[in-house]
Order: sequence, then structure tokens, then C-alpha cells
Amino acid sequence: AIQRTFSIIKPDATARNLTGKINAKIEDAGLRIIAQKRIHMTKEQAEGFYGVHRERPFFNDLVSFMISGPVVVQVLEGEDAIAKYREVMGATNPENAEPGTIRKEFAESIEANSVHGSDAPETAAQEIPFFFSDDEIVG
Ligand code: CMP
Repeated sequence: AIQRTFSIIKPDATARNLTGKINAKIEDAGLRIIAQKRIHMTKEQAEGFYGVHRERPFFNDLVSFMISGPVVVQVLEGEDAIAKYREVMGATNPENAEPGTIRKEFAESIEANSVHGSDAPETAAQEIPFFFSDDEIVG
């Protein structure tokens, strides 16, 4: 089925001018970028967005990293978009990512791993409206 997923190009990737190269991998996989904006997250936004990880030992570092520079937030649409984008991203830890994936080619570490993508339809349904209003999404 046609799905939508939420994506973030993280500060390590914007710092290295990789937005276009990452977008090319997204589009080459058949996903359409139907919303996109470059923002600098506030601490409150990052804490809210990653709220499910609040009790994890890496939470504070993760929030600091996500507000360390600009990010590009996106909505991607396509056939099985959630699973497809997870394939395109590769494993969370770039050491475990398959060749050709965004994280294998570009990520620096498990924290500075260049991109985020929703892990399930319920997550996408929460994450998309966290950053986008309906009129900003043009399918
Ligand atoms: P992301 O998909 O954005 O969701 C949570 C993020 O936490 C994850 O990608 C990683 O970048 C980051 N992170 C940092 N340390 C860890 C860890 N030990 N395990 C899982 N995620 C981690």
C-alpha cells in the first residue's frame, strides 16, 4: 500500500553538505519527497520528538546532538514507504549497515547516523504532524 513516513537528515549530514546526496538515494528508491524544510530544532522539540527514549542512557547526548546544527525534516511517500526507507537508511549502527545504504556510506557513528526514519505506521502518524501541518504536505 502507499504509505507516508517521516524522515530527518541529521546535523552530521547537513554539516557535511550531504542533503542532496541523501535525497538522491531517497528518490532513486522510488520514494517521493512530498514535504521538506530545513530547521534548527529547539531543545524542547528534540526532547518531545525523542520522548520514547527519555529513560535511555543516550537520551541527553542524543538531544544535544540533534540541536547541534540544522536538520532537514521530510515526509516521504511511496509503496511500503516505511519499510522501504528503513532499507535505504540501513541499520541504526553504521557498522551493521549494508553496502549502498545511507548510513553505510555517510554515517559517522550510532549517534551521528545521518538520518532518522519512522519505524512503524503508528510512529509515522505521530512524527509527521509533530513537524508538519497538512497544508505543508503536497502529495
Ligand atoms: P534514530 O532512528 O533517530 O532514533 C533514536 C536515535 O538514538 C538513533 O537513531 C541513534 O542515532 C541514537 N542513538 C544513540 N545511541 C544509541 C544506542 N546506543 N542505541 C540506539 N540508538 C542510539
